[in-house]
Parts: sequence; structure tokens; C-alpha cells
Amino acid sequence: MNVLDFYTMKNLKQKISMVTCYDYTSACLLSKTNIDCILVGDSVAMMIHGYNDTLSATLNMMTIHTAAVSRGAKNKFIVGDLPFLSYRKSLSKSISAAQKLMKAGACAIKLEGAAGNIKLIQHLTESGVPVMGHLGLTPQSIHLLGGFKIQGKTDREADRINESAIALQEAGCFALVLECVPNMLAKKITESLNIPTIGIGAGPFTDGQVLVFQDLLGMQPTFKPKFLKTFADGFNFISNGIENYISEVKNGEFPKDEHCY
Ligand code: KIV
Repeated sequence: MNVLDFYTMKNLKQKISMVTCYDYTSACLLSKTNIDCILVGDSVAMMIHGYNDTLSATLNMMTIHTAAVSRGAKNKFIVGDLPFLSYRKSLSKSISAAQKLMKAGACAIKLEGAAGNIKLIQHLTESGVPVMGHLGLTPQSIHLLGGFKIQGKTDREADRINESAIALQEAGCFALVLECVPNMLAKKITESLNIPTIGIGAGPFTDGQVLVFQDLLGMQPTFKPKFLKTFADGFNFISNGIENYISEVKNGEFPKDEHCY
């Protein structure tokens, strides 16, 4: 997969699959799957570091995780997320932040929102850095949005998201994440853009889907947003493995002769 394949897949109506990943071991696993694209999302702050939101992700954190993922999945298209405020201080600081993620092994960067980011996106794309946009529920703005809520429900909000999507395409984004917006708004945006849309909580009409690795594998059984489908019972599969290990240690079944030097 390279950046041009995103357009080709949209034109051929082939759905794009994207999943988040934050560590080397999971990246090695993903490298052996048919996943089209890996996102080192700032959700790392929540999924790996245990914070309540993505605001605690830092550029150093994103760089370390991007580098680990790129060592494990050299054959995959990796998108690195620019963290909260790292691209809002000045053009020069924003370019340096993007440079850090690209040098760590990202093939593209992702940033949230359109307003105030257009010049940066133009500058990055003119400098050889592919940019993925992100509209709808933009988690770095949860305090402004009043929480993790569906966006674009009113005509006014929907028009604003639609206009932002066109602005991102015109600025040079090669793809766009649409998070938690009504299906019909996602459909309208997807049909009006030449670049692919990748949805999460945006229904079936986007050009692709993205989910968080731990979510799709059912690692947190209490996390059940409406948009999520779990494709494995990861929590029970792993805890059963750990319990089996504990009981074999306790009853002396492990290690056996075959495990000894
Ligand atoms: O950080 C992340 O995981 C994301 C996805 C939800 C799109 O931005």
C-alpha cells in the first residue's frame, strides 16, 4: 500500500481497512495480516498509558510508539498521529513535529480539524509529507465539544463538517477519517470527495473503516459504544491463558522435562 493506492481503492470501490497499533509485537502480528493501513493513534494515551482521553499524548510518546510499530510492520503503510497542540504553536514547530514522526517511520501524518490547519497541510504536502485529515468527533477537542458525542446532527453542524472536508481535500489531504457522524452525512461527504473517507462510528458508506486494535479484539468487555463490533473475545482468551499458566505453576505441571536444560 502506498499513498496512491488510497485513491485507486476508492475509484475501484475497494474498502480500505485500517487499525490502530502502538507496539512492536502487535505490529509484527499485523504485518502478517492483510490490513491495508496502520494508525499509530494518539489513542495510545488511553489504550497503553491509561489516561482518560488523548490530550495526554505527547510528541515523544507518539515518536516512540511510531518507531516501535514501524520496526514491526515494515511492509505496511503507517500513519502517525500528531498529538494535542503539537501542530498549533507555529508553522515551524508543527513541521518539526511532523518531521519527528516521519523520521520515526511514519509514511504519513494525521491531524484533527480543518480550521487553522489549512496552511500547515499545504506546507506539509508541498514538502512531501502525506496528510490524513480527521473530522466529526475530534477527540483532541472534547472539552470544546462537551464530551465524546456524535457530531453533525444539525444541518448547521453537518454543513460545517462538509465544508471542512472539502477544504481538507483542497489543501492536499490524501484521506480523511470521519469519526462519529450520522451515516447519511458520511455518505454525502464520501460521494462528494475524490479522496477516500475512513469511518469510525460513521456507518457503512465510507470508503474504509478504522477501529482501535484492543476494541476490535474485545480486550475491554465493558467498553461497548454502539459503533463497535468485537471480532474476538480477546479478554477471555488472554485471561484464560494466564490462568492456565498460573495453575500449572502452582500444581507443578510447568515446567516439564522438555522445558529444562
Ligand atoms: O487515535 C485514534 O485511535 C484515532 C482513531 C480513532 C481514528 O484517531
